[in-house]
Parts: sequence; C-alpha cells; structure tokens
Amino acid sequence: MMRPLVTLAYAQTLDGYIAARDGSSRWISGAASLQRTHALRARHDAILVGVGTVVADNPRLTVRLVDGVNPIRVVVDSNLRIPDAAHVLNEELATGTWIVCKSDADAQRRQHLLQCGAVVLSTATDAQSGGVDLAVALQLLAERGIRTVMIEGGSRLITSMLRARLIDRVAITIAPKILGEGIHAFGTIGVTTMSNALTFSAVETQRVGDDIWMEGEVCYR
Ligand SMILES: NC(=O)c1ccc[n+]([C@@H]2O[C@H](COP(=O)([O-])OP(=O)(O)OC[C@H]3O[C@@H](n4cnc5c(N)ncnc54)[C@H](OP(=O)(O)O)[C@@H]3O)[C@@H](O)[C@H]2O)c1
Repeated sequence: MMRPLVTLAYAQTLDGYIAARDGSSRWISGAASLQRTHALRARHDAILVGVGTVVADNPRLTVRLVDGVNPIRVVVDSNLRIPDAAHVLNEELATGTWIVCKSDADAQRRQHLLQCGAVVLSTATDAQSGGVDLAVALQLLAERGIRTVMIEGGSRLITSMLRARLIDRVAITIAPKILGEGIHAFGTIGVTTMSNALTFSAVETQRVGDDIWMEGEVCYR
C-alpha cells in the first residue's frame, strides 16, 4: 500500500507526559524547541492530529515561528465532531484543512464542513480502534500528492499509529519538567517485557535551549 513517510513529533516532560491531568499541554517545551517544531512543520507536506487534540488545544497547525510554507492540516475525526470554531476551520483555510472521517459519518455534517472550506475524506471503520482506518487514511493522502506527514498527537492517535506500524521516524522533545501524573504519549502497544521494547536506529540527540531533542528511525521487529 502506497503511503507517505510518517514522522511523529511531540513534546514530553522528563517523566514522559505529553499533557497534564487536565489535558493542558501548553507549553511543555521551551521557545527554541517550539521554533524547531515549526521548522519541522515547514518541511512536511501535511500535519496530522486526532480530533481530541483539536478539542483540547485548538491548535493552528501553521508555520509561524520560522519562514516557510504551511503544510496541509489533516484531522482524524470519525464522526465529524470537530468544533465549528476550531482554528483549523477558520484560519489559513486556503492552505487546506482535510478531515478524515468514517464513511458512515453524518452526511449533513459532512456537507457543512465542505461548505466551511474543508476537504472531507472517509475510510471504512478500523476493526481494532473502531475509528478511522489509518493505513487507508495515509493511502488517501498519498493519492493526493502528500509524500511526508508529521504526526503531532495526541495520545490515542499516536498509539494507534504505532500499533499499526505506521510511524517511520520520531522527533521527540524532552523538557526538564515533571508532572507526576497526566497523559502519556503512548498507550498499550503489546510490549510486556524489556527485550520486546521498540528501538530506534540512526538516533541523534541535541540540546535545544533547556530541552533535549531526539530524532531516530523506528525499528519494528
Ligand atoms: N505534548 C504534545 O506534544 C502534545 C501534542 C498533541 C496533543 N497533546 C495532548 O494530547 C491530548 C489529546 O490526546 P487524545 O488521545 O485525547 O486525542 P487525539 O489522539 O488527538 O485524538 C484521538 C481521537 O481521534 C479520533 N480517531 C479516529 N480514528 C482514530 C484511530 N484510528 N485511532 C485513534 N484515534 C482516532 C477518535 O475520536 P473519534 O472517535 O471522535 O473520532 C479519538 O478519540 C491533549 O491533552 C493534548 O494537549 C500533546
């Protein structure tokens, strides 16, 4: 199946959380890391997030902190529950906001989002997650000319993507903050013993401001 190269990018605390217990995640990382994230956005054809992130954070998903072209913004949203007031439906629409839903999503809602200027794509229901079939979603993106995708969260989307082995690279920012509790980047991915842990190759680390930036390629067994 043809699909784009997928890079997962997110920021976590020292103890592995991508958001606090109340769902807030602004701002885990420092200004220099944020700028780097925007530069990474500019190097991708599309940014993909789950609708949970749109509801929690209402991100713009544009390139603002560096010069560069805005990627297409893609939201995975089974039943088209994205709020009408979401920034991705109201700002930089000319750049393109694509929503991937399930094929049985409400037809009127789909029509409304089309009128708002979004592109709406659909897949059959994924048997495991009950949500959008992510492999098919990536194939739909590839068919429309998307060669590189940056996944920016959140937790459920990242977990489904990893479980389906659809993540090729990671770019993770580790910030010197501790929350003690909150939302992890990953849920269960079927690893129960250390020898089965997912590993990475071509790992590079760099200090960015007070944060650590780690990049690498995912090694699937
Ligand atoms: N630190 C960071 O870098 C960072 C980045 C992004 C987000 N976050 C945080 O992450 C949290 C949001 O994470 P989240 O897990 O609630 O939301 P999410 O992963 O952004 O979105 C998950 C939602 O996407 C939809 N979906 C459709 N198909 C799916 C599939 N196959 N697999 C998984 N999801 C699918 C589901 O909603 P439907 O069933 O309605 O379709 C699901 O509940 C927020 O607190 C946010 O602040 C942190």
